[in-house]
Amino acid sequence: MRFIVHGGKVLKGEIEVKGSKNAATKMMIVSLLTDEECVLENFPSIGDTDITKELCEHIGATVSFAHGVARLHTPTIKSHQVTQLTRRNRIPILALGPLLSRVGKAAVPVLGGDKIGARPVDIHLDGLQQLGAEITHDDTFFYASAPNGLKGATITLRYPSVGATENLILASVLAKGRTVIHNAAVEPEIMDIILLLQKMGAIIGLGSDRTIYIEGVEKLHGARHRILPDRNEAVSFACLGLAFPGNEVKVKNAVQKDLITFLNAVRKIGGEYRIEDDGITFYRKNGLVASEVETDTHPGFMTDWQQPFLILLTQAVGTSVIHETVYEDRFGYTEELNAMGANIAVFSKCLGELPCRYTGQAHPHSAIIAGPTPLRGIDTLKVRDLRAGMAHLIGALVAEGESVIEGIEEIDRGYEDLDARLKALGADITRID
Ligand code: EPZ
Repeated sequence: MRFIVHGGKVLKGEIEVKGSKNAATKMMIVSLLTDEECVLENFPSIGDTDITKELCEHIGATVSFAHGVARLHTPTIKSHQVTQLTRRNRIPILALGPLLSRVGKAAVPVLGGDKIGARPVDIHLDGLQQLGAEITHDDTFFYASAPNGLKGATITLRYPSVGATENLILASVLAKGRTVIHNAAVEPEIMDIILLLQKMGAIIGLGSDRTIYIEGVEKLHGARHRILPDRNEAVSFACLGLAFPGNEVKVKNAVQKDLITFLNAVRKIGGEYRIEDDGITFYRKNGLVASEVETDTHPGFMTDWQQPFLILLTQAVGTSVIHETVYEDRFGYTEELNAMGANIAVFSKCLGELPCRYTGQAHPHSAIIAGPTPLRGIDTLKVRDLRAGMAHLIGALVAEGESVIEGIEEIDRGYEDLDARLKALGADITRID
């Protein structure tokens, strides 16, 4: 599938942010921890929730989505083995905890690296082993068992991985005794998952300095929860509002407290915004100016924001720098932007001051962007990953002329009904199946 985009149109109006993909998919897995029904409101209907539905149904859940509400009910676990699903995402590894808690064994597919780096799961597996899981693997599956049940432990993560923190929370809420996770990730989506778990009967405390305390309980019950708005959608739409002089985009449901670092970065490049009760409006009065950005774990500048933000830097006067410290290989999409007229050079040296795991290695994880460069449409944009695809799309909307973006299934994984919502802002975008 592809999008045909005629760029250069002024975008104005309101666009509503849906529920967070990276909370919704995990909450579907959380629902497997109880034999009662869980109801998730503000639920996004996107590719990744469809893949996770397939996974939950395979395990034994009844799942329905309608009008932004998902209902999930897993009275019994029918299969402890998650077979290879028809499509891939990073979610199956999180099913280990619920399956070990409910039936003492689990098998989930091994996911290889993808286009944004190797993305290993060693921190997940180390932590689960400290909770008492025995884990082996072959080329296609991880096999885990905990014949005597999982037991609380004190675990220090060597990096505050989002997925590993979630995996360990899910595995320890029903474990025997107390678990302490040091150096945990504290992203807003994780806090929202904790709110859902607390409603279900879990005991989870937050300490200072990235520590999470969990007292295992015997049983969890069903709950109803409203999923927080998607910060990544909010930033993508904010960048649309800032990309073009004359644009003015109200991002309905954008939440200031979850976007503090992004809003500071917008102000530094000369972008404007107005915080309102029900959202944030983005626009620009004057030209944009160059800046420096380093991605980091929360509360830093999120790695999923660098791609749409980089498009703004191609339109800014001066030389900008981005140092990506979360993933080792997340600038591949800049090749196509250079073909559109951008001037971006990628380097393996750290061009920043944050501690970085990629120092002294050959990973292309820093970029220098010289601007402003007018962009022109090209017909060879190929979506590499979700956020890179969104950057190409924003680039195509800014560019003069026609662009063709191939492989938009990847964009559909994270953005519901995107073309219809962008058309309502005045974008000229057509989906070709
Ligand atoms: C989540 O991925 C998100 N995905 C990502 O969003 C997001 O970019 C990322 O968190 C960081 O915020 C989902 O929530 C589904 P990590 P996750 O574990 O959990 C390394 C999007 O487009 N690492 O925090 O996989 C890893 O390789 C996606 O919505 C290990 O080395 O992220 C990476 O370099 C893209 N060993 C870094 O840590 C491990 O065991 C951060 O990964 C785990 C991770």
